[in-house]
Amino acid sequence: MALWGGRFSAEPSSVVAALSRSVEFDWRLAPYDIKVNLAHLDGLIASGVIAAGNGEVIRAGLKALGTEILAGKFTYNDSDEDVHSAIERGLIAKIGAIGGALRAGRSRNDLVVADFKLYLVDHLLEIASLTTDLISVFNDQSEKLAKVVAPGFTHLQHAQPIVFGHELAKHSQALLRDVDRIGDWLVRNNFSPLGAGALAGSALQPNPEKSAELLGFDGVLANSIDAVSDRDFAAEALFVMAMLGVHLSRIGEEFTLWSTWEFDWVTIDDAYSTGSSIMPQKKNPDIAELARGKSGRLIGNLTGLLATLKGLPFAYNRDLQEDKEPIFDSVETLIVLLPALIGMVETAKFHEKVISSGAQAEFALATEIADYLAKKAVPFAQAHEAAGECVRLCEKSGIELHELSDEQLLKIHPELAPDLRDSLTTSGAVASRTSLLGTSTSSVLAQISDLKDATKEAKSWISNEVARFSGMMKP
Ligand code: ARG
Repeated sequence: MALWGGRFSAEPSSVVAALSRSVEFDWRLAPYDIKVNLAHLDGLIASGVIAAGNGEVIRAGLKALGTEILAGKFTYNDSDEDVHSAIERGLIAKIGAIGGALRAGRSRNDLVVADFKLYLVDHLLEIASLTTDLISVFNDQSEKLAKVVAPGFTHLQHAQPIVFGHELAKHSQALLRDVDRIGDWLVRNNFSPLGAGALAGSALQPNPEKSAELLGFDGVLANSIDAVSDRDFAAEALFVMAMLGVHLSRIGEEFTLWSTWEFDWVTIDDAYSTGSSIMPQKKNPDIAELARGKSGRLIGNLTGLLATLKGLPFAYNRDLQEDKEPIFDSVETLIVLLPALIGMVETAKFHEKVISSGAQAEFALATEIADYLAKKAVPFAQAHEAAGECVRLCEKSGIELHELSDEQLLKIHPELAPDLRDSLTTSGAVASRTSLLGTSTSSVLAQISDLKDATKEAKSWISNEVARFSGMMKP
């Protein structure tokens, strides 16, 4: 049954119903719709629109319906347009026509935004929590590998030696920003649209602050037109999820590359690998590849919604119904992907010897020669030139930098003394970079200790928020 039949002389044609129906996907909002209805009911009782006795009948009906929804005993049927219509139908079936009183003082326009925001709060917190679990496994792996010297790359070419823990800890840094963004999202978006009605506010619902408080919102939006037309919160959530997806994709790319025979830097555990239907020997890094692949849809969901919003006149337009599927898809994608990646990273075995063996290759210590000269007050441009000449000579004679003779060094630059060779070790090069953000083991261990503190702090604010919201009005 549509919620708007009275003005029409005929039922909508079946093709219209098929086009406009959203209940197959927006049913995910059902538990939140019950909560919002309960909060709204309190407002209507307080303002005297619903008499206290009737109010208690409606409250009991809504609660019973909420329990049935959670148990899968009540669901939508073919006649329902959206989740809101299905719940009104269920309520009226349960308690009679009085169930229809609840529609006073609100519209689906403010109702749907309230439901959707509560859904997002719940699910973004779940994603934040899973992300902190992924950060924790990266912190642990980084710590284990904080002494392992490795080649560092730029342009995917050997550049300078680093420690491998530093390489892994960079993922914790990026993922922590993703968690932070979820915190920022809450600060900016956790405001209630309820009371906006269709667009103008409602004379029957004079105390929106109260329903906002009951639902765990941090306040009420200030403008009823903005309240029903704004979907910044959805676009922003999609950006936060797309950015996280891009980080997971880059992690996936690294593990895919590192697990090749050519690299042989990591063995992905059998439990987190897959096989081939034709080649019996194959072990494929499908989780890493899916992490890379799924970023595509996360980005697509963001750009799709932005395209829907662009040029929309303000206040509610039916186009806005298109906000939900991208959000549900991004949320559900991440909730499946993150646990798989956590397991993959946690169980990955890194091949320390292989990783270290290439640290010096491709003249990765050439920068040490330039730095050595710079420390002797040689202008860096000249120092760079001289170090380049050393590389050229080595390449020509098929030797390594430390194998250049004293005479050869002196000929290239008078300041290149034999003690230069002390600087030409990967461990020395790494150990010298002791400043904040540097790659020495001591800097990296300090970084990991800070990361662990930050992860703990993140886990604690997330669980506080989860507790705060789950303490709110229950269906
Ligand atoms: N299913 C609709 C949506 O998601 C609910 C709001 C309908 N409002 C309306 N004026 N038709 O946007």
